[in-house]
Amino acid sequence: MTFDVSKVRAAYPALADGYAYLDGAAGTQLPEAVIDAIGGAYRAGLGNGGGAFPASGRSDQITAECRAAVADLTGGEPAGVILGPNMTTLTFRLAAALAAGWGPGDEVIVTRLDHDANVRPWVSAAARAGATVRWAEVELPAGELPAGQFRELVTDRTRLVAVTAASNVLGTRPDVASITAIARAAGALSYVDGVHATPHGPTDMRALGADFYATSAYKWSGPHVGAVVADPGLLESIRPDKVTPAPDTVPERFEQGTLPYADLAGVTAAVEHLAGIGDAAAGTRRERLLAAMTAAQEHEAQLFAVLLGGLAAMPHVTTYGRARSRTATAFFTVAGRTPRQVAEYLAARRINVWDGDNYAWELTGALGIRAAGSAVRAGLVHYNDREDVGRLLAAVADLAS
Ligand SMILES: Cc1ncc(COP(=O)(O)O)c(C=O)c1O
Repeated sequence: MTFDVSKVRAAYPALADGYAYLDGAAGTQLPEAVIDAIGGAYRAGLGNGGGAFPASGRSDQITAECRAAVADLTGGEPAGVILGPNMTTLTFRLAAALAAGWGPGDEVIVTRLDHDANVRPWVSAAARAGATVRWAEVELPAGELPAGQFRELVTDRTRLVAVTAASNVLGTRPDVASITAIARAAGALSYVDGVHATPHGPTDMRALGADFYATSAYKWSGPHVGAVVADPGLLESIRPDKVTPAPDTVPERFEQGTLPYADLAGVTAAVEHLAGIGDAAAGTRRERLLAAMTAAQEHEAQLFAVLLGGLAAMPHVTTYGRARSRTATAFFTVAGRTPRQVAEYLAARRINVWDGDNYAWELTGALGIRAAGSAVRAGLVHYNDREDVGRLLAAVADLAS
């Protein structure tokens, strides 16, 4: 399969502004087709879902198409796709619902590799239920999350294991399939945070063994919409807080209030866009997505080798993490400058990067860099090119003096 990055870039109007967008891990730009889909939905006329008139029917159809698209992207079932404002809100919602069945003596496992959105909802819910929190530790400096430790952590009292499919700062991809297998063998559920992982390669939540798989469309060329995908049968067994007249069906019972219908049309368009990158010609949308995301992953890996090699060769730069399997996400500090100073310096050179803890709260604490402002994150996505990487390396090299 070919991967023509200049063709990919041409689909994104924002990329023409002269900036190197290396902030994709915090949110990607939108292709014209996604912007059109959102505008087109409003232009056609939308009504609240479930009504008797055509504009309402359009919203219902958009919602159904969005569930099907997210299911294709993740390898789940449309009837198990819960849509909402973002991953954090949905995770707090699910944590509250699941914890209603927990009590003293029950245990939940969280990791120090995870973004806080897959930590604090479980820690808070466990505290309210009187349940115990157990922590999986990161092996430093490599930044690995050894799967073997879960054999010690998981007991017959474990109710849930929350683990990320990829760290949003170090890029580490833990062996999620082994971790969820250990959880399942003990009768525990697994909640896999796929927010950072999803844009960086093909996703198969069944192969990951995830009971719940969370993702956010704004990390993969879509609008600000979050989704959690689960087996519909599992969702039937959970009773979240809801207003009485709202549907009690699955997955609707998990969706509080009115959905952002026009944005949902944008989510579907983003999935269509991803299915088309790399010129995957034939097959179902799921098949095209798997091929396209594999091509994107290879493209990112090639660029990342250049980026990481360049940073590692600079004596004034410290890079964090060297996991065996990782996304194209660099986390580094520059001697004599705070991460914010570096980000401001790069912004003045039209290079977008993130600085700070990036909500990897426990991990930046474990790395001992949080108090000093954590680090700079340069995250590659499929639309980044050699020029973006070259500009970053040249600018950081200039900071040696
Ligand atoms: C790994 C990871 N998990 C969770 C989140 C939170 O996602 P959302 O903004 O959809 O709540 C982020 C956002 O940066 C993330 O990178």
